Amino acid sequence: MSSARIFADLKADHDRHRDLLARIGDIGSDDAKRATLFEEFRLDVTAHAAAEEESLYATMLAMPNLRDNARHSVSEHKEIDDFFGELADLDPASDAWSERFAAMRHRYEHHIDEEEEEMFPAAAEQLSAEEEARLARVFEARKPKELARAEAESAGGDERE
Ligand SMILES: [Fe+2]
Ligand SMILES: [Fe+2]
Repeated sequence: MSSARIFADLKADHDRHRDLLARIGDIGSDDAKRATLFEEFRLDVTAHAAAEEESLYATMLAMPNLRDNARHSVSEHKEIDDFFGELADLDPASDAWSERFAAMRHRYEHHIDEEEEEMFPAAAEQLSAEEEARLARVFEARKPKELARAEAESAGGDERE
């Protein structure tokens, strides 16, 4: 994969998400820490996906030979968000929650593996070093703002349907 900063930024988030998923998966369903760690994961993934769409995928969508890849990833973001909606309606101590969490984990790990193995290399082949540098600046500026927004939305009550 290209060593450009934008891809290093995205991969660093993915690695944090992999670590959180493993920790949540290892925690007993009776441990309240499970819900806390999951909320940390949910907020960071929500912000990551939004900032990823506002930087890399916005650019890929405008390029005819990268458009299909970008659409595929964006539709997977929607799928993951739908899982978050389902999980929000379940008790984190329940077997139903554990089952949906495992399904979401499988989908999300597939998503980030595919981004790293297919989407990012395809983009790296087409983007100039200048464009990659610009995308890193956009991503790094958007991520904290999207995180603040995700936190404000969850603090403001249930805005999901
Ligand atoms: Fe993604
Ligand atoms: Fe990603």
